[in-house]
Amino acid sequence: MKNALVCGAGGFIGHHLVRRLKAEGYWVRGVDLKFPRFSASSADDFVIGDLRQQGFVNSIVDRHFDEIYQLAADMGGAGYIFTGDHDADVMHNSATINLNVLDAAYRRNCRRIFYSSSACIYPEYNQLDPDNPKCSEDSAYPAAPDSEYGWEKLFSERLYLAYARNHGMDVRIARYHNIFGPEGSWNDGKEKAPAALCRKIAQAFDGDGIEIWGDGRQTRSFLYIDECVEATLRLTSSGWTGPVNIGSEEMVSIDELVDLIAKIAGKTIEKRHIEGPTGVRGRNSDNRLIRERLGWAPSAALAAGLAKTYGWINSQVERNHYGIAAE
Ligand code: NAD
Ligand code: GDD
Repeated sequence: MKNALVCGAGGFIGHHLVRRLKAEGYWVRGVDLKFPRFSASSADDFVIGDLRQQGFVNSIVDRHFDEIYQLAADMGGAGYIFTGDHDADVMHNSATINLNVLDAAYRRNCRRIFYSSSACIYPEYNQLDPDNPKCSEDSAYPAAPDSEYGWEKLFSERLYLAYARNHGMDVRIARYHNIFGPEGSWNDGKEKAPAALCRKIAQAFDGDGIEIWGDGRQTRSFLYIDECVEATLRLTSSGWTGPVNIGSEEMVSIDELVDLIAKIAGKTIEKRHIEGPTGVRGRNSDNRLIRERLGWAPSAALAAGLAKTYGWINSQVERNHYGIAAE
């Protein structure tokens, strides 16, 4: 039986990843500051603690793990990472976690380690045209991310690659592009556009207006959680060591995203564009490298994932409305 350590197992992607690893027959230890918010973890062992503390990290990397998945980070959607209010925490907390976890893995000879980087590392100058953003893996340099969150991710990518070169660590690095699905943040200030817009539409009556940050013409692609986990496992078991995009190539404008959700909800929704943190003007995953190296790429339609996500968020909204705690 293989064993795995999942750092950030109380978070959105980590929680789904643990569930999948258990289904694959792994023994899993999860670690986080908190338990998953919406359902119990499937991990065999779940340790609550702070990965910024090197002593704690050494205590949980107390044996050989076949695979370590490092997903713990101080992160959120545009309302969290683009306001500037959390820059120092985001950089300090996430960099400290990465320094600690990677070094402990090296010292225990746990060589295979997966790191969750982000599309936010890509230079802003290639994401100014909403219809033609450039996000191929080789376009990361000259570096010019538009957020401190992106700079920390770039630093940590380089840290993992340096441990691979100098210490023989067997690293895998994914650049995730906006992952969404049930059991993600939807009302705590860290929610991303799919969850935030599902919530606003679930709370609206037919014919109501909802507030949308920016002019609605900024573009993104959104990857459903199941394909994110599938890609993560495929990458980790592959022989490819360079950073690779894990995202959808189905690019939409934020207004189109609103229209898709409104259709799923069966509501007519008026769009009210307001000032807000918007991030880059356009972004889309470029899946040529993942196709070439893994012989596979995400392919599910955005609408299918949105239908499942809207259903889940709508049920959370109803639970809250009727006074039942959401967690
Ligand atoms: P998340 O916020 O739901 O999960 C991160 C988890 O890390 C949280 O549960 C948090 O409590 C934990 N954590 C933070 N600081 C910690 C500490 N000091 N000690 C222990 N645990 C700590 O985020 P997510 O959406 O699951 O993302 C997982 C990873 O993927 C993150 O590294 C994130 O930056 C990256 N990523 C996610 C997306 C996305 O769209 N969700 C996109 C790009 C990259
Ligand atoms: N969150 C949110 N909430 N975004 C909104 C809203 C709203 O109510 N209305 C419009 N938007 C717009 C944002 O202004 C932004 O232009 C776009 O929707 C996408 O916002 P997010 O989904 O919050 O974030 P992002 O795509 O800019 O960045 C996310 O993806 C990265 C990977 O691609 C973040 O989660 C990053 O942490 C992540 O690394």
